[in-house]
Amino acid sequence: MIASLPHGIAIGPRGALRGTLALPGDKSISHRALMFAGLAIGHSRIHGLLEGEDVLATAAAMRALGARVECDAGGVWHVDGVGVGGLLQPERALDMGNSGTSTRLLMGLLASHRVTATFIGDPSLSARPMGRVIDPLSRMGADITASPGGRLPLMLRGALPAVPIEYRLPVASAQVKSAVLLAGLNTPGITRIVEPVPTRDHSERMLAGFGAHLTVDESMDGRIISIHGEAELTPQSITVPGDPSSAAFWLVAASIVPGSEITIANACMNPTRTGLITALRMMGADIAETNRRDMGGEQVADLVVRHAPLKAIEVPPELAPNMIDEYPVLFVAAAMADGVTVARGAEELRVKESDRIAVMAAALRACGVLIAEHPDGLSITGSGGDPIAGGATIASKLDHRIAMSMAVAGLSARAPVTIDDARPVATSYPGFFATLDALAPSLD
Ligand code: S3P
Repeated sequence: MIASLPHGIAIGPRGALRGTLALPGDKSISHRALMFAGLAIGHSRIHGLLEGEDVLATAAAMRALGARVECDAGGVWHVDGVGVGGLLQPERALDMGNSGTSTRLLMGLLASHRVTATFIGDPSLSARPMGRVIDPLSRMGADITASPGGRLPLMLRGALPAVPIEYRLPVASAQVKSAVLLAGLNTPGITRIVEPVPTRDHSERMLAGFGAHLTVDESMDGRIISIHGEAELTPQSITVPGDPSSAAFWLVAASIVPGSEITIANACMNPTRTGLITALRMMGADIAETNRRDMGGEQVADLVVRHAPLKAIEVPPELAPNMIDEYPVLFVAAAMADGVTVARGAEELRVKESDRIAVMAAALRACGVLIAEHPDGLSITGSGGDPIAGGATIASKLDHRIAMSMAVAGLSARAPVTIDDARPVATSYPGFFATLDALAPSLD
């Protein structure tokens, strides 16, 4: 554990949230920055890297594969890459901790290198499906032996040369898309991905920024992403924008607690990540955007959020890929809205760090909220703005976003909400509770 986060913690009402907060670096971009810099020939610098456990697992893996990865006293990360094709045989199993992104993207990377690697992870990660990357990577020639059900631990033997494929994504997943793209980097010829539903496009943007020959075309069938293999990546200086998935907790917290007014600085506003802002605005949230600017190829802005009465909505299913990690906290907003919010088309939530549909249904029910569970989402009867009952202990199930979402619920509950284990928060947002104390000091 990198931060001394509490095992159990009780969060109750604290009054309005006020002030300006700095977000941690975006998790998706941080993983990719380390990986792509590790594949460039020469020295890259990364400012604002998220120093959460998931990203540190990627850093450790890149070191084990031969890259030099160090953080200086000023918090700037330095990476000396080995070049595409230059990754080395790791001496030990790669421990991915809780991180699905590290696992799936690194599997892609190694699929076209002459290395054999074993991937292990914690019980949450070891329960998650890897078949979705095993399938395309095997077609490219990698030899992968997984535990029953296509899960970790698994062993991957990369293919050299790997075979370029054209692959139509069967699930809307940026991780699967990125795994195939990364395998394509060291594969002769053109590897092509057809993406019927757009997902976060950080890999495409960043690989192009690192000098890969990558094209994106729109077709009737969706986006077609082509990467020209045996790429050469050139080192970069990267500034990581603030993580909109971490901003999500404050967007909802300030919206539901009367009297709140906060400013969230430097939030990444990539349109493939802003679904929650769209949904909250549909519910009546007061979210203003200022100072929009470019930060290293991504749009960022400062967000001013004020408390507002929320009304229930039918969450458009087409928003799902653009807010997939934000559903748990959206469910908390729905619990305070006026009316019944229906969120469907989000079946992917069942295979995240936990089954986020079942776990959030149980957590909110325990706090007195009326919930109907569907295979692909929830219907939530909101309180109309009154605090929910709270007073329950919630099992976070090794899932950082459950822990943080239910902490936000505690801010608008009659009795405190206890999170049984808040340590998973360190995977993506080690400073979460410190920021909460700064925005709304505890009343006891
Ligand atoms: C991520 C993609 C999403 C998201 C995850 C990060 C990424 O996963 O849930 O937290 O960085 O590519 P899926 O691709 O499985 O939807």
